[in-house]
Amino acid sequence: MQPTPHRGPLCTRSSLTNDLRKLGLNSGDTVLLHSSLSRVGWISGGAETLVHSLLDVLTPQGTLVVPTHTGGNTDPAGWANPPVPEEWWQTIRDTMPAFDRRITRSERMGVIPEVVRNWPGAVRSTHPQTSFSAVGANAHFVTEGHALDCLFGEQSPLARLEKINAKVLLLGVDFDVCTCFHLAEYRIDSPKADNSFSAFQDGSRTWVTVSDVAVSDEDFLELGKDLVAEANVTKGEVGGAQCCLLSLPQAVKFAEKWFLSHRIGGNSHT
Ligand SMILES: CC(C)(COP(=O)(O)OP(=O)(O)OC[C@H]1O[C@@H](n2cnc3c(N)ncnc32)[C@H](O)[C@@H]1OP(=O)(O)O)[C@@H](O)C(=O)NCCC(=O)NCCS
Repeated sequence: MQPTPHRGPLCTRSSLTNDLRKLGLNSGDTVLLHSSLSRVGWISGGAETLVHSLLDVLTPQGTLVVPTHTGGNTDPAGWANPPVPEEWWQTIRDTMPAFDRRITRSERMGVIPEVVRNWPGAVRSTHPQTSFSAVGANAHFVTEGHALDCLFGEQSPLARLEKINAKVLLLGVDFDVCTCFHLAEYRIDSPKADNSFSAFQDGSRTWVTVSDVAVSDEDFLELGKDLVAEANVTKGEVGGAQCCLLSLPQAVKFAEKWFLSHRIGGNSHT
């Protein structure tokens, strides 16, 4: 039996550049990208070609930002999918390698964030669980100062992105991965919880526990639907991928209001 040929559309660096411009991405923009490469079709040159296209459109005056989160660096007591035996927990806490922004791979973010993280000139923020990587003019501004007790709040790259009026590009993915909504959780009366991870402190590997907002993305899809209905969200296609392009500050502002009316009293998760 013959193998099934790749599904299209066939995409190239220039076809993707045209699609991105048509969607509304401009030279000089700073954009936070969430992506699924497989939704685009078949790209000649794969992930690297798509990153070239994004940088072609943004130009050196623009900035490409991606989540390079490392969700495995958490307390094993909270692991559910799958869990690990309780008698392993302390050994895991004692031996989990510290997050190293040069080495530690991102998890479940896709191939594009990995390509961007390794791009010449890329810089990465330092949170052991929710780092972001960036290439371009604002890369240092966006990634510096990511505090250990601030997954997604005022001392995280999301607040920096808000300050410089960044855009969000959902490329083949839905609003359930629209990380910037988390910033709004810091602006309502959200519950807090202990958050633990392995990190370097004073040069040595340490198991660190901090108090941070107990973030939740359970209602992000519903929030995204309302945002699309009520705010200025541009829809289009890049290759065969359905995309949304939106203003990050507007999305955060909308999410804050939405949480206040949909999460009872602003302090419980739906
Ligand atoms: C999880 C997720 C990354 C999966 O998407 P995906 O398209 O399956 O995976 P990737 O983006 O890594 O792309 C790799 C796939 O591209 C496809 N691919 C390979 N070569 C390709 C090419 N030349 N052209 C196009 N697609 C190609 C393959 O299907 C490959 O999958 P494989 O490695 O299993 O064969 C995506 O659904 C997602 O959630 N993205 C957003 C993540 C995020 O930003 N989260 C932040 C909030 S927590």
